[in-house]
Amino acid sequence: MVKQVLQIKDLSSGYGKVTVLRDINFQIVENEVVAVLGSNGAGKTTLLKTISKLISPFTGEIIFEGQNIASYPPYLVAQAGIAHVPEGGKLFVNMTVYENLLMGIYRNRKKVKEDILEEIYEIFPILRERKNQLARTLSGGEKQMLSIGRGLASQPKFIMLDEPSQGLAPKLVDEIYQKLSILKKRGITILLIEQNINYALQFAERGYVLENGRIVMEGESKELLNSEHIKKHYLGI
Ligand SMILES: Nc1ncnc2c1ncn2[C@@H]1O[C@H](COP(=O)(O)OP(=O)(O)O)[C@@H](O)[C@H]1O
Ligand SMILES: [Mg+2]
Repeated sequence: MVKQVLQIKDLSSGYGKVTVLRDINFQIVENEVVAVLGSNGAGKTTLLKTISKLISPFTGEIIFEGQNIASYPPYLVAQAGIAHVPEGGKLFVNMTVYENLLMGIYRNRKKVKEDILEEIYEIFPILRERKNQLARTLSGGEKQMLSIGRGLASQPKFIMLDEPSQGLAPKLVDEIYQKLSILKKRGITILLIEQNINYALQFAERGYVLENGRIVMEGESKELLNSEHIKKHYLGI
């Protein structure tokens, strides 16, 4: 049976008195990869911040594994099993790789710290090599891997990635996506935000298109790639 992981119902959200997201309805099932696409300023980051509760929704429901988490504080959202890998990584640059990874671990996890780190190093061997280096000395690709690794340290069931390919050369983008496919194989459900539509729709099974804070299209990746609207407005063909 298909199990719902996240359902968002009639959500609106924003900053202070400014509404950014309106009438958002969205769902993702277990082990699915779903992309949210949209140009700069469309509200993609605001959507992730609302789910992880860095900002509070104005109205609507956020149902995660059957519970409405719309009023949870951020640490309870994380404890429920949601990880948010923020735009630009947001690392602690003057801490080591190892210390950054530790920041992602919750004390009440059943697994011991060393086992969790071992799993992360298996996916990202470079982080093991660099574990005693300060985060600021890492390359762009390594920083992105560290922020994904830190997200994994909370042992999430569901991970949200805000533009993981941003600023990276194509070869590194391929490498990041290879890593993401390992996460999928391990049963983690993935919500991916991307401006690079080709990458996103190759990796995701389905996508939503966000424009001016509203979802204007949704569909299977193939459908979206073939749609005239996407071709004209996002792919320039
Ligand atoms: N901290 C903030 N305070 C006020 N407005 C914001 C803030 N962050 C983003 N916005 C506004 O919200 C809208 C959506 O931004 P954002 O979610 O960052 O878009 P995207 O991630 O799709 O580029 C933009 O109009 C932006 O100016
Ligand atoms: Mg953004």
